Amino acid sequence: MREKFIRWGLVLLVVTWVISILIKTHYWIPILLSCIYFLGLYNSFQTKHAILRNFPVLGYFRYFFEEISPEMQQYFIERETDGKPFPRNERSAAYRRAKNISDTVPFGTQLEINNRKYEGIKHSIYAKSPGEELPTVLVGGDQCTQKYKASLFNISAMSFGSLSDRAQMALNRGAKKGGFYHNTGEGGISPYHLEGGDLCWQIGTGYFGCRDDNGRFSPEIFKKNVALPAVKMIEIKISQGAKPGHGGVLPGSKNTPEIAAIRHVQPGMTIISPPSHSSFSDAAGLLRFIQQLRDLSEGKPVGFKLCIGDTREFEDICAQMNVLKIYPDFITVDGAEGGTGAAPPEFSDGVGMPLEPSLIFVNRTLTNFNVRDKLKVIASGKV
Ligand SMILES: Cc1cc2nc3c(=O)[nH]c(=O)nc-3n(C[C@H](O)[C@H](O)[C@H](O)COP(=O)(O)O)c2cc1C
Repeated sequence: MREKFIRWGLVLLVVTWVISILIKTHYWIPILLSCIYFLGLYNSFQTKHAILRNFPVLGYFRYFFEEISPEMQQYFIERETDGKPFPRNERSAAYRRAKNISDTVPFGTQLEINNRKYEGIKHSIYAKSPGEELPTVLVGGDQCTQKYKASLFNISAMSFGSLSDRAQMALNRGAKKGGFYHNTGEGGISPYHLEGGDLCWQIGTGYFGCRDDNGRFSPEIFKKNVALPAVKMIEIKISQGAKPGHGGVLPGSKNTPEIAAIRHVQPGMTIISPPSHSSFSDAAGLLRFIQQLRDLSEGKPVGFKLCIGDTREFEDICAQMNVLKIYPDFITVDGAEGGTGAAPPEFSDGVGMPLEPSLIFVNRTLTNFNVRDKLKVIASGKV
């Protein structure tokens, strides 16, 4: 290919230059072709991009079409009910409602509601208008003195860093308006989480916002931050559906002085969240850690979030609850289909149990161990 390009390109160049010189006009054509020719010549010798080496000029078309492919899909090919994670019809309903314009549709559903994947809810013959009070769930067992009335729908963990300051502020103000809680994510509590909405403070393996200089859990710092009135619940993150067992990396370039101060780390350093916790290494350790956090928070509800992997490990936690008589106030079950700020695709596509079988398993196991009534179960995963 390279030889052909060099040979025929040169012929074309010579011909256009000769013609332009003879007719004494239109010099821009051979100049343009010369630029393209030398760019192609460079591409055919470089070793970084295989496509450009084989197709020194036409290769750019491939990059161009690849670049605009999502837009072409979205504008010309996507149907109303296509698109992930949200199909076009759901997105347009959200936009229309945000603008306070009519969101109604004629002719009924466009979904295939007779296929097995259809999910709906059962209505009542005696429907009532919603009252002033929204339905809530009381989170907090016997060992908890500051129980929390949680809304049925809340904002899942998404840390400051994975979401911008503006996004966190918007979510927190939304939580305040709608009376639901905003989970901080594992990146600690930022000023943008403090716009008046209730918080569930999430603590991951990096212990951001409550860690000592060695990256281990610091009871003193935790005690100080958990006393914030906005913090209504504490969630220990064991694993996340999109990347169970992976932990995370905060690259040095993203570790700004602001983020570093919130997470209690050195700015500019790459910070690793290990795959597992340093505060415990078995079921009894997890439950004791829960009790420690509950004591330090003076009785706020404490739970943990996990994506189900090895089912025996979860059964072991339930068994230990009965041995130690320590019960979490809630368990958040995250399905493997859940979203993430960043995860290797192998983890997102191939690790962990999806939400539906997880919920069935968790509910059945808690019931079998007689602890189902001691705690609340929260679910997330493309709900
Ligand atoms: C941008 C983004 C950041 C996230 N950050 C966290 C996090 O810090 N901690 C965590 O446990 N889960 C995190 N998650 C996962 C969500 O909390 C949730 O478990 C997941 O999205 C599944 O719920 P959903 O699909 O119903 O939203 C993140 C998800 C997204 C999209």
